[in-house]
Amino acid sequence: MNKIPHLIDINDFTPDQWQSILSLAHEIMSAPMVYAGACRGKIMGTLFYEPSTRTQMSFQTAMLRLGGGIIGFDNPSNSSVAKGENLKDTTKIVSGYSDILVMRHPLEGSSKAAALTAECPVINAGDGGHMHPTQTLTDLLTLREEKGRLTDLTVGFCGDLKNGRTVHSLLKALSCFDGNKFILVSTPELKVPTYIKDYISASCKSYVEYHTLEEALPQLDVLYMTRIQRERFGSPEEYEKQKNVYCLDARKMKLAPKEMIVMHPLPRVDEIAVEVDDDPRAMYFKQANYGMYVRMALILCMTDYKFTSKPLLKGSIMNDVCCTNPKCITHTEKYLPHSFIRSGDVLECEYCDERILV
Ligand code: NCD
Repeated sequence: MNKIPHLIDINDFTPDQWQSILSLAHEIMSAPMVYAGACRGKIMGTLFYEPSTRTQMSFQTAMLRLGGGIIGFDNPSNSSVAKGENLKDTTKIVSGYSDILVMRHPLEGSSKAAALTAECPVINAGDGGHMHPTQTLTDLLTLREEKGRLTDLTVGFCGDLKNGRTVHSLLKALSCFDGNKFILVSTPELKVPTYIKDYISASCKSYVEYHTLEEALPQLDVLYMTRIQRERFGSPEEYEKQKNVYCLDARKMKLAPKEMIVMHPLPRVDEIAVEVDDDPRAMYFKQANYGMYVRMALILCMTDYKFTSKPLLKGSIMNDVCCTNPKCITHTEKYLPHSFIRSGDVLECEYCDERILV
């Protein structure tokens, strides 16, 4: 059993553990000075292979506010990555310098790959279009603080539901709470991946898929808007076809219930008109602020080793089988064991969740 409490997928921790992180975040918000020296002497390494504003800075601020220090890069071309160093070696070295490692990378499954050789807890701060568990903790804290509950919510997700890693992690998390329902608003090309839909169904939660925001809005407790993820498209033409399809504006907000809140992981491009910012239901800036407190709580829990996590690879190693997802980390980091979970005649890649028929 791997005792290091990595956070690669939101389900690496149990819903009770999420709740204790959220409760601690609430305590920190009400008395931040009590925690000011709680991580004195500890170091957080941040390896950001992809652009980030909120996630990176909220992690850094969180550690600094806890009295700890930070090392790392936000531009791999300034590090040995530019000389061709593989992920394994970078992780091994930096995790040896750190008490906790936060990583963002464009390839799916990269955080799990890094955790395989890390010497300290690894936090996935976004692995390609796959998962983003700490944004989910931010979102859960926002829901708990602003809606007062994580159950019995009708949540609409709108935008790039295919490539939006925050959507995938949040759908998985909300599927674990009773009475939640999902309305998924996207174009046919940008629908939620099948492995997430199967997860929702296996958790006995229901979802419907709509094409327009107008249909969804009157039914919602929460609207979770997302941008179209330009960097994940195969060509500029494909992106051009999808951009500007959805835009939440003041006119559409009139269709929404008075108590509905609008969330967005940010950055916003043009899917929410600036005029909506003045609507009291717009929660996205406050949400970003909750992110700092929830990351303070997470760092405290993980550096204290209060949690243990599940073993990283549970499936069968089949090095002669290749994952069919071109964005899977196993294609660039060739030394990684190819590990799959078998279910009937389907193999699921343990890094990126891609399913392969055999
Ligand atoms: C999101 C991300 O990086 O996945 N942003 C964030 O972490 N707050 C959403 C996005 O980039 O669209």
